[in-house]
Amino acid sequence: MSETDYTKDPVYPEANVYPPRWNFDNERAWQLYRRAKREQWDEEEINWEKVREIASGLDRKQRLAIAYWWSLLSNFDNATPVFAHSVIKAFEHHLDTAVRGILTTITYDENRHNMTCGLAIDSMMRGFPFNFKPQDDLERKAMLNVEWTWYNGSRYWKAYLEAYKKYTLDVLFTSFMMGEAAATTVFTTMSQGSKIDEFSKAFRKTAVDETRHYAFTHLIMTDNASKMSDEQKRMVTKQVRAGFVFLSLITFKPPKEFWKLPPWFEEVNEKMEDLARSAGFYIPDLKEKEKSWRTAIIRVGSTLARYNVKLPAFPELGVTGEEVEVSEEDMVPIF
Ligand SMILES: [Fe+2]
Ligand SMILES: [Fe+2]
Repeated sequence: MSETDYTKDPVYPEANVYPPRWNFDNERAWQLYRRAKREQWDEEEINWEKVREIASGLDRKQRLAIAYWWSLLSNFDNATPVFAHSVIKAFEHHLDTAVRGILTTITYDENRHNMTCGLAIDSMMRGFPFNFKPQDDLERKAMLNVEWTWYNGSRYWKAYLEAYKKYTLDVLFTSFMMGEAAATTVFTTMSQGSKIDEFSKAFRKTAVDETRHYAFTHLIMTDNASKMSDEQKRMVTKQVRAGFVFLSLITFKPPKEFWKLPPWFEEVNEKMEDLARSAGFYIPDLKEKEKSWRTAIIRVGSTLARYNVKLPAFPELGVTGEEVEVSEEDMVPIF
């Protein structure tokens, strides 16, 4: 057995959060970290009492439809553990101090978004979906739509954890780009359209967070893309497509790739959306959803192009590009 030589520096194990280390030279990351701290808000700034009051004036089906929509959203805003995991990885790999700091703020942001979903559901239809007693076929199918969406979320989570073995952190974080770009547009449109003021406010504040998350993915991309190999760039292309496939469930319509959903999903989903709209809860129609995606794609695409990363094809939107197929194992995207 060899004696420990205390006169030498210790050799630390690989991929370990020790030793603590700080660097103060990445000014862009520091600026974003400061902005993240400045822009924090509290989900309890939303007047939930008022939301419950409004709910009491709605039909049961309208309340259900709004709770249903927030439940679908929560599939994507269940991202606290996603970012908590990325915080650990960022420390293990000794990323920039400010980048690690930003990830801690995104973890907190996502938790706030998740709380907002829960509070909105609770205000509209307490106990939905697990303690909900459907009164007819439509209600039962709507409940199952949510449960099966969440089941797909569990498949995504497994793939996400596996992805850390396959991708480098910079590729992983740029994978979030499409999701954050889509989130920004969705929440901005919904805040502008909502006739329910408190929801309008929640969407506006969430959009501020998502815009900053997008800025984070952009920062990672611009800091790392020039060092990426062709293989890594191909992975980014695939992940941009994966982001579209995953988020389209709520922001467009679920593509056949990846999703395992009941045969009635779309039909019931459309009915729920119409019911929510009839209550003043703004959900963009298919044309507007398409337009939002095009905007997001142009935004992401222009950044990708600067670093010779190809854009994938989006036949659903009539956008040509690299043909990539996304399967269960490729799901890294996040909102
Ligand atoms: Fe979010
Ligand atoms: Fe986000």
